[in-house]
Amino acid sequence: EFKPLVFSGVQPTGNLHLGNYLGAIRKFVALQDNNDCIYCVVDLHSITAQLVHEDLRGQIRSIAAAFIASGIDPEKHIVFNQSAVPQHAELAWIFNCVARIGWMNRMTQFKDKAGKDRENASLGLLAYPSLMAADILVYRATHVPVGDDQKQHLELTRDIAQKFNIDFMAHIRARGYGVDIVVGEEPIHAYFPPVEPLIGGPAPRVMSLRDGTKKMSKSDPSDLSRINLMDDADTILKKIRKAKTDPDALPSEADGLKGRPEAENLVGIYAALSDRSKDEVLAEFGGQQFSAFKPALADLAVTVLSPITGEMRRLMGDTAHIDAILRKGGERARERAEKTMREVREIIGF
Ligand code: ADP
Ligand code: NA
Repeated sequence: EFKPLVFSGVQPTGNLHLGNYLGAIRKFVALQDNNDCIYCVVDLHSITAQLVHEDLRGQIRSIAAAFIASGIDPEKHIVFNQSAVPQHAELAWIFNCVARIGWMNRMTQFKDKAGKDRENASLGLLAYPSLMAADILVYRATHVPVGDDQKQHLELTRDIAQKFNIDFMAHIRARGYGVDIVVGEEPIHAYFPPVEPLIGGPAPRVMSLRDGTKKMSKSDPSDLSRINLMDDADTILKKIRKAKTDPDALPSEADGLKGRPEAENLVGIYAALSDRSKDEVLAEFGGQQFSAFKPALADLAVTVLSPITGEMRRLMGDTAHIDAILRKGGERARERAEKTMREVREIIGF
């Protein structure tokens, strides 16, 4: 049996927003009690779409600060940045040789980020999912809390693990590594576990406040489209007041949100922030207009986010402390990752 181990990462690019918090960081915090967790600032990923950053180190520190301010314990679990553990890139290279170009070409995130001029996208952007698979599998992690937008990449991670396991099955067995598992119908002897995404919750994909068909994103040019973790109370209130909605009152059950993406998004955010279901939220607000619901949502968002914002600011004032956490986390991660890589090199025959 593979031992349950949680891994996830966040890119140090642009402002952290409510989608990152509800889709990822809040889940990271909740998983700490019953799991061994590794949380990574994925800086190698951040140069795939944009190569040069003005203050990459500052961005790395701010994600680490957000993790800790949200309640992640870097003593009990591991918090580090990806480039401090070169084994991620080493395994990613091997996975580049396992994965097929066609698999990468099918990724919707690549199509979105590359835009029309695909030939001019970086090779790293195309290979991004292979590095993501390496991030997870270099620890042989089994559970990955992410937003819904990462579902396709995690399916690819499973495909890469499966192909590696099957292609090298004889070598894995001969070296005395791996365990017998069943993937789908097929019994195999596996070195890498099949990874389980942890997506769920009432807001698995937080949408833009300006357009209910687009996800809330760091790269959206409109700052009104997202609530940033560092926004102050007035800004949060303003953005929620300006959020796009429809003229109808809120329904009394979640079924009534169908075909109303903006309403569904705001109710989902309220539910996630208050740890309730959409039905429970609508039992309270059903029949009310957005003019009444929006201030309640803004209040709730400020209540949840402002302690985190305050603590993030405090931590970012102490860069030596953040750097020490990252350094120590990097050492612990490196030790674990190197154990896997020693075995992988042996399995391949290097
Ligand atoms: P972004 O997508 O904003 O550039 P990252 O790629 O660093 O951010 O994603 C960090 C985590 O946040 C991932 O688990 C991702 O699935 C999650 N995430 C990003 N945007 C959203 C969103 N709009 N709703 C829910 N989760 C999201
Ligand atoms: Na993303």
